[in-house]
Formats: sequence, C-alpha cells, structure tokens
Amino acid sequence: MAIRMIRQDGDEILKKKSKEVDVIDDKIKELIKDMIDTMHKYDGVGLAAVQVGILKRIVVIDLYEEGKEPYVFINPEIIEIKGEQEVDEGCLSFPNKYARIIRPKEVKLRALNEKGEQIEIVGQDLLAQAMCHEVDHLNGVVFVEKIIPGTLEVVTPEDKENRKSKNKKKK
Ligand code: NI
Repeated sequence: MAIRMIRQDGDEILKKKSKEVDVIDDKIKELIKDMIDTMHKYDGVGLAAVQVGILKRIVVIDLYEEGKEPYVFINPEIIEIKGEQEVDEGCLSFPNKYARIIRPKEVKLRALNEKGEQIEIVGQDLLAQAMCHEVDHLNGVVFVEKIIPGTLEVVTPEDKENRKSKNKKKK
C-alpha cells in the first residue's frame, strides 16, 4: 500500500479518456488499495485512477458513513439519472477551487466490483454527486468545466482549514 501522487490542475492527463479494465489482477487490486489510501489521506470523498496518473476506468468513493466500506467501481456506467440538485463541489486535483454545480439527485450506476461481479447501485444526494464527478474524470471531464457561471471560489490555505471544519470534502 502506498500514497500516490495526485495529478493537479494543468496536468494534461486529466483531460484524457480512461480505458476499460479487462482483467482484475493483483496490480489492479494494489492500485485500488492505493487509491483508497490516497483518498483517505487527503480527506477525499472520491478518487478516479486518472488522478493518480493511471488511465483505467476505476473509481473509489467513501462517504465516511459508519460501518461502511469505501465503494469500488470498475468500468462504471451511469445507466439512469433522476432529478437535479445544486451543490458545492471540489476536487482533489483542484485543491484551491470550489464552485456550485448542478448534478442529478439520483443516479443508477452499473459497474464491476473488485471480485469482477456486476453490481448496480442507486446513489442519491452526495453519493449521486460523487458518482457523476468520478465518472466524468474517466471521460476526461473535470468539474470546473461544468460549474454554474460566477460561482468559482479560489480559496487560501486558511479558508481551507475553515472548510475542513465545516466538513466539506473533495472528490
Ligand atoms: Ni475530482
């Protein structure tokens, strides 16, 4: 297990489309463990493999709910969306930026889990937001491209501490 370096704003890899995972081998499993550790280390709600420089369709999400393991989605696809929510959003690859964005209120996602089994999960609210944000990463799309105009906030390190205490986490 290891903490991997998170690719930041301006890194061209963030605009690239990730490739499907064919075989879930030990290398993929190690990558998933590292992604979870890296997400936790930086207080993230989600992380896509491209953010650690690997162009594979893998995302991890953790809402830090008691007794719940992080979600691991391999080759995720959003197959249904319902409703709308206007939310605050941030991203571990854009550590100083936050903005308002419109996301679906509910999302049905199909993916493989770490064992290669097909799963379908319905996420609402923050989970729906995180699913959309991470699947966007796999398609080379970052949240700053989709924000509500005029809502982008660039924060200082001090503001960031305040935000942390308000429990605003990043994806
Ligand atoms: Ni992100």
